[in-house]
Amino acid sequence: LAMTEDILQLFSELPERIRKLLRAAQQAGDELGYSVFVVGGFVRDLLLKVPTQDLDLVIEGDGHAFARVLAQRFPEGQLILHEQFGTARLEFPDGSHLDVARSRREDYASPGALPQVEESRLRDDMFRRDFTINAMAIAINSTRSGELVDYYGGLRDLKQGEIRFLHNLSFIEDPTRILRAIRFAGRYGFRLAKETRDGVDTALSTGVLRKLSNERFTEELMHMLRELRFGVMGESLLQMGVLKEWFESELAWDFTHPVLNKEVPPKRKWLICLRKMDLSQFERVQEKLRLSKELRGLTQKFFEVMTGLSVLRSSDKISLEDLDHYLEGLPKVILEVLMLDERFHDSLKRYHEATEGIKQKVDGMTLLQWGIKEGPEIGRILKSIRSAWLEGEIHSEEDEQKFVAEILKNNPTKST
Ligand code: CTP
Repeated sequence: LAMTEDILQLFSELPERIRKLLRAAQQAGDELGYSVFVVGGFVRDLLLKVPTQDLDLVIEGDGHAFARVLAQRFPEGQLILHEQFGTARLEFPDGSHLDVARSRREDYASPGALPQVEESRLRDDMFRRDFTINAMAIAINSTRSGELVDYYGGLRDLKQGEIRFLHNLSFIEDPTRILRAIRFAGRYGFRLAKETRDGVDTALSTGVLRKLSNERFTEELMHMLRELRFGVMGESLLQMGVLKEWFESELAWDFTHPVLNKEVPPKRKWLICLRKMDLSQFERVQEKLRLSKELRGLTQKFFEVMTGLSVLRSSDKISLEDLDHYLEGLPKVILEVLMLDERFHDSLKRYHEATEGIKQKVDGMTLLQWGIKEGPEIGRILKSIRSAWLEGEIHSEEDEQKFVAEILKNNPTKST
């Protein structure tokens, strides 16, 4: 593999949308006389034959001029120019994007620089990246289209299935790479190369991880959560001591549940891996992470309910009404995760069976229409209707109507 021919073959198998982008980039590069390379994750995934969405281009020349030419051919794309870095991004309605960067070296001279100088810039650019498998480029100008530029053994590591850093300050310079290494390893079923694994240990022992902001750590963790094999990644985080270092204590993470490596919503995976924690551990998690409002709320609720149910369980018999207090209107994902817990299994099943058939039609609005004055009475009546359903005193809409009529008959607050 990775002969130019093979790469051209892989290009030809790409979705038309991406081939069109590559063709346009080639034309723009040829016209402007710039060398153009596709780099990074795109190259890695192309060689692994994994579908890719986003394109990263590195060019030798004026990045903004190049991006403008490209943008003209894609009116549906939105062009964003970053003045400060000379980079540009083309964003498409489907959420995918194309990034353009100039190979970063400050001593950039003329557009017609000697090829060797150009190559050394690309080499520098690649050297600044995280892992060998992410530090490859493929030329796309028509004169050398499909040529792999692999200075650091990326292709070898792809074949060997190894994540290898480019130099041993890599993790110190950018501690998020510790999590990235684990994420890529988990995603592709790779392992960390020996020195790289040692590099993680060294970096962790210097305490560099704690220099990361809560936002950045959380962001990396959320990237993992969206991956198929989150469970595998979580196990590595534990094993390598990353979580202990970040949370400054051993929390009861549980990444062993098989669902964590299946195609299920991230929020479900999240609650699953937290479910063995106690309240103080959970508070630590909330403190050290900047979760999205939704996930934060969900986590909070999950723990409230778990705590509530545990307390209930220690009493003799849990009434349906007690269960209802915690479980009514609860997001489905919380119920699903609670169901995994043997301690709650029976109560939840009983609750599920009792609530399944509830077809409560009367709501606050109905009661208002029937002449009950606005106020706490409404809440009380609704509650008694619900509990009658739960206790099996009401089985149908007719029962419900009768039940309410009965209440209304004796209701002193009823207006005339
Ligand atoms: N990169 C890096 N160090 C980081 C983040 C990114 O060196 N901390 C480099 C890598 O070369 C990577 C490229 O920037 O390939 C783009 O980063 P990103 O889009 O985050 O990663 P991808 O490799 O595209 O991975 P993914 O498939 O997860 O999008």
